Amino acid sequence: MSLFQIRAATREDARFLGDMLVEAANWNLATARARIAVLEDPSITRYIAGWPRPGDFGSVAEDAHGVAIGACWGRLFPANAPGYGFVATGVPELTLGVNAQWRARGVGRALLQAVARQAAAAGHSRVSLSVARANFAQRLYVSEGYVTVASGADSDTMVRAVH
Ligand SMILES: CC(C)(COP(=O)(O)OP(=O)(O)OC[C@H]1O[C@@H](n2cnc3c(N)ncnc32)[C@H](O)[C@@H]1OP(=O)(O)O)[C@@H](O)C(=O)NCCC(=O)NCCS
Repeated sequence: MSLFQIRAATREDARFLGDMLVEAANWNLATARARIAVLEDPSITRYIAGWPRPGDFGSVAEDAHGVAIGACWGRLFPANAPGYGFVATGVPELTLGVNAQWRARGVGRALLQAVARQAAAAGHSRVSLSVARANFAQRLYVSEGYVTVASGADSDTMVRAVH
């Protein structure tokens, strides 16, 4: 039996997705902020505000007891209010986070693959994300087929075709 399983994210997952958004924002523990401070930051909370909005899709990983342990989801942003990983109107931007005690066991990769399938099923041809260059997660994205299409001072925007 698998140690974890993946299911589609629902309306009831809003709080947990918020938890995983905090994990993603706090990837660098040296500069981590309190949950409330992260979720009150408009540049961060826009990734989860109003979940689920039309066009949102995502997946949740659960342990053998049905407890949520990680999540990945996609959201569309308009060109006049782009997310950090915006590449074009109609290309969803992904957020990914896994509970600290569950990392390095394949959960993140399984979530990325599930969300790529959901994006394709929703009719998208690409997904994007933004990742700090110092975050090892970038190597995970490369191994999942993501390619850097733009670079800022400390972060890269990466895109993957889905089908
Ligand atoms: C990034 C993150 C989502 C990855 O999820 P995960 O479940 O730990 O990843 P996986 O177990 O699927 O591992 C993916 C690969 O990264 C490697 N890896 C995992 N943890 C690692 C670590 N601490 N350092 C270096 N490599 C690591 C694994 O070896 C694996 O590669 P492999 O399949 O070739 O062995 C998770 O670590 C996390 O939530 N980090 C904090 C939030 C974050 O950074 N989110 C992304 C923001 S862009």
